[in-house]
Amino acid sequence: MSNPAQIILDGKTFELPVIEGSENEKAIDIGKLRDLTGYITYDVGYKNTGVTKSAITFLDGEEGILRYRGYPIEQLAEKSNFLEVAYLLIYGDLPTKEQYAAFDKSIDDHSMIHEDVKTILHGFPSYAHPMGVLSSLICSLTAFYPESLNPNASEKTINDSIIRLIAKMPTMVAWAYKKSKGRPVNYPIRSLEYCANFMHMMFADPTEIYEVDPVVSDALNKLLILHADHEQNCSTSTVRIVGSSQASLYGSISAGINALWGPLHGGANQEVIEMLDQIKNDGGDTKKWIAKAKDKNDPFRLMGFGHRVYKNFDPRAKIIKKACDDILHKLGVNDPVLAIAKELEQAALNDEYFVERKLYPNVDFYSGIIYRALGIPTNMFTVMFALGRLPGWIAQWKELRNTKEPIGRPRQVYIGEKTRDYVSMVDRG
Ligand code: MLT
Repeated sequence: MSNPAQIILDGKTFELPVIEGSENEKAIDIGKLRDLTGYITYDVGYKNTGVTKSAITFLDGEEGILRYRGYPIEQLAEKSNFLEVAYLLIYGDLPTKEQYAAFDKSIDDHSMIHEDVKTILHGFPSYAHPMGVLSSLICSLTAFYPESLNPNASEKTINDSIIRLIAKMPTMVAWAYKKSKGRPVNYPIRSLEYCANFMHMMFADPTEIYEVDPVVSDALNKLLILHADHEQNCSTSTVRIVGSSQASLYGSISAGINALWGPLHGGANQEVIEMLDQIKNDGGDTKKWIAKAKDKNDPFRLMGFGHRVYKNFDPRAKIIKKACDDILHKLGVNDPVLAIAKELEQAALNDEYFVERKLYPNVDFYSGIIYRALGIPTNMFTVMFALGRLPGWIAQWKELRNTKEPIGRPRQVYIGEKTRDYVSMVDRG
């Protein structure tokens, strides 16, 4: 137990408890600060606010460390698969062989979607952004499984909702894509592994036999693992705050998908490729665009560089950069946009301006390049991020529920008008 923190306000000293995490992270517990002193804390964008105690993911932004349930991300990306990592995040431990087989089977059992969901899908215009389609389809599960709305449902019912969500998400993602192409949807195939099944649903054409390249499904497993959780980021915090009102799992995850959609969060991977295409179409002069990025009067901003919490490097970017080179080599992809990406990467890593501001390429910078090499269209990149982040969102929602956290309710510092009397419109003129 650490010594309490002391705070002096208006000449009086107050003591506040200090809490410590398992990796020695320290926090001042300000829960009673307002009662004791009349003050609240002010932290726009929650830059230095711990909102929960969590046992899921450890992140050290200074050292570039990321671990799920204690396991280093490097080991999981190298040796595990996405379904095993999903199990780890949601249930707290790696599964035994039997647990894994049962989990895998239950995912296969629930991967079909109620045929009426197609009616909802067909109500969207084909140009609808697939993130909007996906968040709507996920929320529609509340209608097909109304028992998921009960905040006091049994553990079994909650677990059934979780399994259904993991099982149906790839089908829904692939259907959102098929919708955008005006193509018939594909149904899941039980004998295929999770990622291979997903690629089948995305790309199989009824007129030919579709073989999933193992290089592609391995790459996808790695990408999804790297995105599976990232502690209290914007979309996860959204899932937790929506869940804290005892909203259903499906409603909370649907909200998380919308939070992820923004260009400052998951939407960044789409923005990266669009930026690289813009540079290519402009003649590919990276020096010109680097100069624009440095010019504070120019609205151009380099997408996919820097990170709010990683101060030196993003460990996921390190893994993905290597995977990116391997995959493009194995698939024999020669993408002109890649040469531009490499030049930008080198410029950013060697230029004082970027080094000083810690603007190094992050996970979004490379993920878009790999998705493109796997044949995934640009407007689906953020949807792929959502597919990867799903187990993390579920684990965080489950943890919040199990620890019975109170409803999220931040405070504010009011800066509007002081009290004034109402004057009728006639007198106001
Ligand atoms: C994420 O993986 O959620 C992003 O890197 C954003 C974040 O952690 O703030």
